[in-house]
Amino acid sequence: MNDRKLFALARDAAQNAYCTYSHFQVGAALLTQDGKVFCGCNVENASYGLTICAERTAICSAIAAGCRDFESIAIVATQRATPCGACRQFLAEFVQPTFRVLVAALVEPDAYQVYSMEELLPHQFTFP
Ligand code: THU
Repeated sequence: MNDRKLFALARDAAQNAYCTYSHFQVGAALLTQDGKVFCGCNVENASYGLTICAERTAICSAIAAGCRDFESIAIVATQRATPCGACRQFLAEFVQPTFRVLVAALVEPDAYQVYSMEELLPHQFTFP
């Protein structure tokens, strides 16, 4: 699975975003080490704080399916954005420091930026 195909899946997922309050669509496609892909979109709520980000939706879907070994995640949004702090910590629970995080705008998926997990969240919290 190359980056371009992963972004195509993330874009499909973004179409399902439930973002009636922010109107900010986000889609994520999480690639496992054995080539499976789990997608997610943001799901908002009238009680704003209950909103779930696209990245966490994708991770939960993978974990629920019994997959825990990940290679990369492609994230597209109305405007290019890196994962929020909560999603960084949530991702860091399961991935290696070299895990790739790819981000792009929905309208310009080929102009994507690549970060490593380590770069996005140094000194993550781990249980002592
Ligand atoms: N959002 C994500 O899906 N992922 C992030 O990493 C940051 C923000 C969503 C949450 C909310 O539905 C909308 O973007 C605006 O904050």
